[in-house]
Amino acid sequence: MRTIDWDIKKNCIVMIDQTLLPREYKVIECSTIDCLCEAIIKLRVRGAPALGAAGGFGVALAAHESKASTLDGMMKDIEATGQTIISTRPTAVNLSWGVKRVLNAVEDARNIKEARLFALDEAKAIADEDVEKNKELGEYGAMLLENGDTVMTHCNAGRLACVDWGTALGVIRSARAQGKDIKVISCETRPLNQGSRITTWELMQDKIPVTLITDSMSGHVMRMGMVDKVIVGADRITQDAVFNKIGTYTHSVVAKEHDIPFYVAAPVSTFDFERMEDEIEIELRKSEELKFFGSHQIAPLDVEVYNPAFDATPMENVSAIITENGVFYPPFLLEEVKIKI
Ligand code: MRU
Repeated sequence: MRTIDWDIKKNCIVMIDQTLLPREYKVIECSTIDCLCEAIIKLRVRGAPALGAAGGFGVALAAHESKASTLDGMMKDIEATGQTIISTRPTAVNLSWGVKRVLNAVEDARNIKEARLFALDEAKAIADEDVEKNKELGEYGAMLLENGDTVMTHCNAGRLACVDWGTALGVIRSARAQGKDIKVISCETRPLNQGSRITTWELMQDKIPVTLITDSMSGHVMRMGMVDKVIVGADRITQDAVFNKIGTYTHSVVAKEHDIPFYVAAPVSTFDFERMEDEIEIELRKSEELKFFGSHQIAPLDVEVYNPAFDATPMENVSAIITENGVFYPPFLLEEVKIKI
């Protein structure tokens, strides 16, 4: 099934619980906003494009849940709920984009029934478009890969980070579908191990060769000539930087040092070109994520911890940005990208 979807019979959101992978593949249901927000905060659903769909379905769920007897009352309910959903994770721009897109779609509704219908239709459109855009993006990105390439990636920018197909891993899937022999090196992605738990699992499901390394090995493998290209996803792209999972910046610096192309694959919905890096809030997560490995304590309980979920890679470290509208190269002229957008 898709990473996240709407169950038409039960009128609820269904999603693959990513916290359980790779040990267990389980689909969970969210029929309340509290359940959805918990799922987002705990990363049961995660990855920028999947969060866009979660935001959209969240507003549809809020419209369904609302007990308001007037359209005005319902609009107030879903706007407030939209803000609650947005506040769960501040860095990935797709979450607020998905919420706002569905709120806008509901504005033309003439009654409550129509509002519920419009909200769900728009949320489903976000999900369907995500799959289409990833496939388009994949085709553009595949042109950058040569037969025999080994691609290093960080975190999970695959089908589980999206509704389906994936961005960074979508490029690899598209290249493989064209018959190119592409191998992947996946960084484990501490502290929550999206790389070792999810990227490796997802690639192995598709029989795509993947080798797991720790994040701290990336410099070594690049220096040893084991990496031809780096491809990562993005949570937000401002005029001057790419926000992605913590550790991405370090890989970009090493890639630059060794003349290895550093590509970012992301749909246009991830662009926030109106803003600059210093305007963006980086999500800080709980210290327990560093002090425990699962239930196993790995640091003194009272140690001071700094746990940012994302970092920013300056544009000068990015070789190209792959989108569904084409591949953009430095100097990433705002006007040019905007026109294409
Ligand atoms: O904290 P996460 O797991 O939501 O972080 C996800 C990432 O950083 C991904 O690389 C990014 O969202 C791109 S997903 C196509």
